[in-house]
Amino acid sequence: MDVSYFIEEKIKEIKKIVGDDIAINALSGGVDSSVVAILAHKALGDKVKNIFLDTGMMRQNEPETIQASFKKIGITVEVKDVSDRFFTALKGEEDGEEKRKIFRDTFYTVLSEAVKESGAKCLLQGTIKPDVEETQAGVKTQHNILSQIGIDPEEQYGFKTIEPLIDLVKWEVREVARELGMPQTRFNTMPFLGPGLTGRVIGEVTRERVETVRKANNIVEEELMPLKPFQCLAVLFKDNATMKGDENALGRNYGSIIAVRCIESEDARTAEITEIPYDVLKKIVKRITTEISGVIKVVYDITPKPPSTIEYI
Ligand code: XMP
Repeated sequence: MDVSYFIEEKIKEIKKIVGDDIAINALSGGVDSSVVAILAHKALGDKVKNIFLDTGMMRQNEPETIQASFKKIGITVEVKDVSDRFFTALKGEEDGEEKRKIFRDTFYTVLSEAVKESGAKCLLQGTIKPDVEETQAGVKTQHNILSQIGIDPEEQYGFKTIEPLIDLVKWEVREVARELGMPQTRFNTMPFLGPGLTGRVIGEVTRERVETVRKANNIVEEELMPLKPFQCLAVLFKDNATMKGDENALGRNYGSIIAVRCIESEDARTAEITEIPYDVLKKIVKRITTEISGVIKVVYDITPKPPSTIEYI
């Protein structure tokens, strides 16, 4: 791929499609939508508005970090707190695939309202080839896929989508990011889920349960990122475990279980577990069980992919 030619062509294409209208770019903070933000900024200048929908499912300080890193390169990002909409929509749902669908529908409903409010006719998205392939193969419903599953965004939501990266795979996106001068810290980010921490909570997604898993993911990242794994994560189980309490207390007390996963992989299609030193694992257990109230058991998942997937749901 000729990266500079690709960039020039995409800038021309975005300009042509948007014309005299204005466009919205929905940033997620990942490399894909960040590349789109820079391409769109080059093509449209102030005629593109970047919004970051804070779904309540992001990792610790993610909205603020993203806003600050774009500010450094002259791009303004508006953060909109829409978390109530997501928690309300997800209330009571326990099934993983249903939660993904609810997330996607809520995301587009909220986003289309924001697009309408702004008067934009086009929505830029960082969809890449594997998103489409995985959705078509029925492996997962990616939240940023519409036309591929029979939804016409113009008809249903009233705007066109522009997906400049749809023919690229991840390493090609990273090449484009490098050529655009994006800081390393932005384009070498660890993979994270489109539906965010919704996917790291087994069972019902509530504010409290998301907060628990957010803190656990943060501890896991702080302790394991120095080992430079392909990906590390924490998941909250649905079931509880018995707590060792006071011998004289009446009845049992239960607490939450967190699974820690850390893997090595080339492309996420297969994965091996990272052989973490025991002292690091013990430190993670200590931190999770003392810093997060209600968590009393931590397990380290040593299953490769296959047979397991990287995430739990
Ligand atoms: P699995 O769990 O299928 O994950 O082994 C493979 C890779 O894809 C990431 N992943 C997702 N990314 N939206 C995303 O943007 C999703 O719904 C999603 N599900 C899984 C996962 O973190 C891993 O890197």
